[in-house]
Amino acid sequence: MESPKIHIKTISAETTHLVRHPVLRPGMAIESCILPGDELKSTIHLGAYDQNTLLGVCTILDNPKDGRFMVPNGQIRGMAVLSSTQNSGVGRLLLTEVESRAKSRGFEVIWMNARKGASGFYLNMGYRIEGSEFEVPIFGPHYVMKKQLL
Ligand SMILES: CC(C)(COP(=O)(O)OP(=O)(O)OC[C@H]1O[C@@H](n2cnc3c(N)ncnc32)[C@H](O)[C@@H]1OP(=O)(O)O)[C@@H](O)C(=O)NCCC(=O)NCCS
Repeated sequence: MESPKIHIKTISAETTHLVRHPVLRPGMAIESCILPGDELKSTIHLGAYDQNTLLGVCTILDNPKDGRFMVPNGQIRGMAVLSSTQNSGVGRLLLTEVESRAKSRGFEVIWMNARKGASGFYLNMGYRIEGSEFEVPIFGPHYVMKKQLL
């Protein structure tokens, strides 16, 4: 059930830590919230707000050169919604806005290394699993998931 009050706006890399930390890095040093590429001018950080309260965050990196995709692509990182707000439509709103911005930039593909536990969310949003499950130390099993945008 979506709240009509939720709005999404561009935020700083540091502001994402307010949600990344409790959701993605609980109990870890705050510095663990800094992700490679956060500081790049081409990187977009988005926050979902209910009035002035930040509920969810998502970051998109412009064309990371990891050799996986040979077409213009965006990598999603740090997708997180506060646990008290999960399953109320905030993640869908964030991802929809990310996709809209990615299309405007001419990205043909959007992808991420998805935690296995979140893969149902991405499947629900039209993403597909590429290849086999793999293990990320500390964070557990993941899949590469992608969506063709153009
Ligand atoms: C994954 C996450 C970002 C999803 O955000 P959310 O706000 O809870 O998701 P929404 O409420 O917008 O859900 C959208 C749809 O996906 C479904 N969904 C959400 N999480 C799901 C999951 N883990 N498995 C299966 N389906 C899921 C919802 O039921 C909803 O379906 P519907 O539209 O048919 O009703 C959020 O749950 C989260 O932060 N999880 C912990 C951190 C994490 O794993 N982040 C991803 C790292 S790759």
